[in-house]
Amino acid sequence: MKRIQIINGPNLNMLGKREPTVYGKQTFETYFSELKTLFPDVELEYFQSNSEGILIDKLQETGFTGDGIILNGGAYTHTSIAIADAIRSITVPVVEVHISNVFQREDYRHHSFLSEVCKGCIVGFGMDSYRLAIEAIIRFS
Ligand code: DQA
Repeated sequence: MKRIQIINGPNLNMLGKREPTVYGKQTFETYFSELKTLFPDVELEYFQSNSEGILIDKLQETGFTGDGIILNGGAYTHTSIAIADAIRSITVPVVEVHISNVFQREDYRHHSFLSEVCKGCIVGFGMDSYRLAIEAIIRFS
């Protein structure tokens, strides 16, 4: 059985309420239940934090066992060398995910410190980006 950890960064606990025209109206909890139904043979875990250090702790804790980590770093994607270094330090492959197409948005969202240390990136497919990341991990792990 595959084991995949989803880690969401800052403000992603607000999905459903936060800028619904950009991120949709669904809460992550509802979507996560759908994912569990879609992938009954995958052990899926979900974690969210608004704090950079706590996200790093979680990467270190989960980064040596299991088949993959799906990381939506939120705004830390565009600022955090510390999260990039945490990804460099672990052995489990990390897939970077974004709900919105960051390249269609403000210039400051066009650069990611995380992409170069991730196995791959899935960007702009709404919540479905997470499903696609699971498919990728199943295929490539
Ligand atoms: C995001 C894109 C980031 O630029 C933004 O700061 C987020 C969400 C996305 O999933 O589209 O918080 O990671």
